[in-house]
Amino acid sequence: MPKRKKIGLVGAGNIGGELAILAARRELGDVVLLDIPDKEDFAKGKALDMMQACALDGRDANIVGTSDYAQLAGADVVIVTAGVPRKPGMSRDDLLSINLKIIRSVAENIGKHAPDALVIVISNPLDAMVYEMKKITGFPRERVLGMAGALDSARFECFLAEAAGASVKDVSALVLGGHGDTMVPCLSYTTIKGIPVTKLLPQADLDAMVKRTAMGGGEIVKLMGTSAYYAPAAGAISMAESYLKGQRRTVACAAYLQGEYGYEDIYMGVPIVIGAGGMEKVVEIELSGAEKAMLETSAKHVKELLAAAAKL
Ligand code: APR
Repeated sequence: MPKRKKIGLVGAGNIGGELAILAARRELGDVVLLDIPDKEDFAKGKALDMMQACALDGRDANIVGTSDYAQLAGADVVIVTAGVPRKPGMSRDDLLSINLKIIRSVAENIGKHAPDALVIVISNPLDAMVYEMKKITGFPRERVLGMAGALDSARFECFLAEAAGASVKDVSALVLGGHGDTMVPCLSYTTIKGIPVTKLLPQADLDAMVKRTAMGGGEIVKLMGTSAYYAPAAGAISMAESYLKGQRRTVACAAYLQGEYGYEDIYMGVPIVIGAGGMEKVVEIELSGAEKAMLETSAKHVKELLAAAAKL
């Protein structure tokens, strides 16, 4: 009998809960939902509620809530959302000092209790958090990824489908760079059923959608008073699923670069292949001059963030 897979979720808040129910409904494996001791009962209650929802669906789910890292032993994947989310008027970078402390203790515990897991970080500011995770766990870059590009690409796809009056199933967008206002939506690789969007929609409309995508997270924070959770969870679950099932999907993710795209020792959003080996490949694509310049601006911003983190 093949062993059931195990998915650890550190942070049982809005995104953590959505991750748990998606993992259970897709029967990806057993779920451990972990939070701080003060929130242990909350995590346990959430786990029970979701198990009961799965019973109604006829899904065999096993979800436990805990604050004990020992429960992560043997995890195949750990997804990290521990930290505080944005409030209206805040940028992701405003979360740096508070979330950095949290991510450091989470990373130490993952290194100790789940040394063979693939780690997917969602906590913001993403590029600095995932860099810290890799540094502290000492895991190879193949097993420490940041979820951003999948979400940013999905946001862009949504806007494009609506504007073109097309099915979102046929829209394929690519958003690179850091997860912030300097992200780089790549029009040259964005298509509707293989047809470049530049041939289907006026440039002014595309420019407006690029802008809206870059500010897409902030738009939701302003409306809800906290940050998005359904789409971030869906993005991370698609990455975890590709790993657990060896699907080799190409996804835009924050990946640790070692010379690719001309950058070293930095996490940035690029297309990668996720399979049974974790990040199996960084896909290097040719960028236009404008896209390269935007990527450089984005990299500069990520470097500033990493420098600020290094001082804390
Ligand atoms: N260990 C485990 N969990 C922690 C820790 C810690 N050291 N510190 C905080 N948490 C938990 C909180 O108790 C809370 O339950 O993380 C959870 C975060 O949940 P929410 O506040 O609902 O935030 P969420 O919307 O899920 O976003 C989490 O992801 O997208 C990013 O910007 C977002 O950084 C934020 C993170």
